[in-house]
Amino acid sequence: MKIMRINYTNVGIAVSLLVVSFIFFKLSQLKNHSRTTSITLQTTGRAVEPLIKDKAADLFDDQLQKAQDTLESLKRELVLARKDTVKENRMDQPHVDKKKRILRFNGQRLVHLDLKGAPTKMDYLIQVLPHFQKWGATGLLVEYEDVFPYKAKYEVLRAKNSYSEADIKRFLEAATANDLIVIPLVQTFGHLEFVLKHKEFAHLRETEHFTNSLCPNNKESVPMVLGLIDQVLALHPGVKWFHIGGDEVWNIKTCSVCQKDARNKSELFVHHMTPILTHLKNKQVTPVMWDDMMRNWPVEYLKELGPLVEPMVWAYASDLTGYYPPDMWQRYGEAFKTIWAASAFKGATHPWSNFVPIGFHVKNNLNWLNIISKLPATLQVNGIALTGWSRYDHYATLCELLPAALPSVAYCLQTLTQGNMDEELIKSTAKELGLPEEFRINQGRFNDLYHPPNGTFPGHEIFTLVGHLEKAVYDTRGVANLQQGWMLDREVESKFLSYFQVESAYNKTVHGLKILTALQSEAERVLGPVYDDSVIKEWVKDKLDGGVKHFNSLKPQLEELRKVAAGEEGKQ
Ligand SMILES: *[C@@H]1O[C@H](CO)[C@@H](O)[C@H](O)[C@H]1NC(C)=O
Ligand SMILES: *[C@@H]1O[C@H](CO)[C@@H](O)[C@H](O)[C@H]1NC(C)=O
Ligand SMILES: *[C@@H]1O[C@H](CO)[C@@H](O)[C@H](O)[C@H]1NC(C)=O
Repeated sequence: MKIMRINYTNVGIAVSLLVVSFIFFKLSQLKNHSRTTSITLQTTGRAVEPLIKDKAADLFDDQLQKAQDTLESLKRELVLARKDTVKENRMDQPHVDKKKRILRFNGQRLVHLDLKGAPTKMDYLIQVLPHFQKWGATGLLVEYEDVFPYKAKYEVLRAKNSYSEADIKRFLEAATANDLIVIPLVQTFGHLEFVLKHKEFAHLRETEHFTNSLCPNNKESVPMVLGLIDQVLALHPGVKWFHIGGDEVWNIKTCSVCQKDARNKSELFVHHMTPILTHLKNKQVTPVMWDDMMRNWPVEYLKELGPLVEPMVWAYASDLTGYYPPDMWQRYGEAFKTIWAASAFKGATHPWSNFVPIGFHVKNNLNWLNIISKLPATLQVNGIALTGWSRYDHYATLCELLPAALPSVAYCLQTLTQGNMDEELIKSTAKELGLPEEFRINQGRFNDLYHPPNGTFPGHEIFTLVGHLEKAVYDTRGVANLQQGWMLDREVESKFLSYFQVESAYNKTVHGLKILTALQSEAERVLGPVYDDSVIKEWVKDKLDGGVKHFNSLKPQLEELRKVAAGEEGKQ
């Protein structure tokens, strides 16, 4: 016997629909009324009041628009809910309250592998690929920098831990086996420290001591980057897209030759990039380029590059409201047919970060879904790259390690494929990662109540290790706060000290020191399966040894201050 079940979601939506319809009706009446009033007033020739009334009419227009939008989205929800009910009834499942998910992103979803810091062992990278695919990735944006097996006159660029050609081939086969497209990335203007730091290429620098960007007026500049591109292309046969970087060329037009050049910065940028873009086009490869150098260009000028490139528009903040110049999307829409977006899953908070704030990156991706849903209709978004920066530049310390960021990859990909991130999805993703059911994506405090969770994904031990490290970082910051509040020179010199605050700082120091010392003896074992010795050495020195040294020098100072604070003279 078929029992009629009441679906509360549908009833709720239907009631809301009725209420909104009523408000809509009322607003229309009011609006018509106010229009009539304002027209009447205008004909009586009173100049000021009609303006006010028009404003009121505008306000009603606004309200009306909002009501109309709500009405539309409720209608959509009702349709979706009906579909769900049909499906659920057929499968005879208990009713699940599904939220509307209309902002799912259906284009390419690329995970960016920034290998210019902490390149993982190739076996590990290959082990991770099926997980990327399962979580929702469709491809990889691979920035090799100095770990690509460059040859001949570029061999000098190779880092000691660079990959071999066989590694790259194995990696590409694994990507294909997991249905992941690969887009290689080679910087071609700025961020060329890995090239320009070498004496062999120093003469190509725009600015004598800056190793970041090329001089666009040096005749050897373009051939040099084409040489890099061709070697990378040769190992990536059949790629459809190639990313040529092109971001943050900060010191463009500063050398004596470029300063004398009548062309402005944008023109020099186009002058340098055009032959590179054409080179790829001629090989039937579509170039992709970071967009930031073009954000303020007038549309006529953007059209110069329009037919040549698909820009990748990046932004990593958690709130992108007002982030871009107000008319930028309009201009991009007129100049380009297709673009890419870039969000972030790591490496976008501080150059020294270790712990990945997942909630921050989920918000960033939600913001992107919102932006994409409102783009001019003419603008097609081919895909979104989730960037995962390993260092802010070639010289910077390492920021978050890839294994510590895998949960963030999973959550960000889920955000894009599901179009939202709610309690249910947080739980199911945690389960997928082997994290505890109560796992939270917004972890703010790392005090004694925080116990770094364990997972089951590849490299999860590193994720947990970083959780412990963050507790020590939390102590470091806590001590610095106490010092800035209660242990300034005046306070110390006059012995006007709070015993409580000094002891708190001392306790935090002892606590942090204990954590770091334990991590020092564990790091090798945990990092060993994923990283080679040079990466481990660097990480341990920057992240652990530095902290131990800091706490070790603080400890006796605070011990001394505590004695002073305990003395009678301290209480005046
Ligand atoms: C540079 O020149 C081009 C072409 O004349 C112009 O469209 C553009 O706005 C200029 N850019 C800057 C930064 O002044
Ligand atoms: C994670 O696993 C370790 C080792 O098995 C265990 O000591 C620790 O308590 C676990 N952490 C949590 C939060 O369950
Ligand atoms: C510092 O640690 C000691 C030993 O655990 C404890 O007795 C004391 O209350 C702590 N002091 C502060 C201010 O937290």
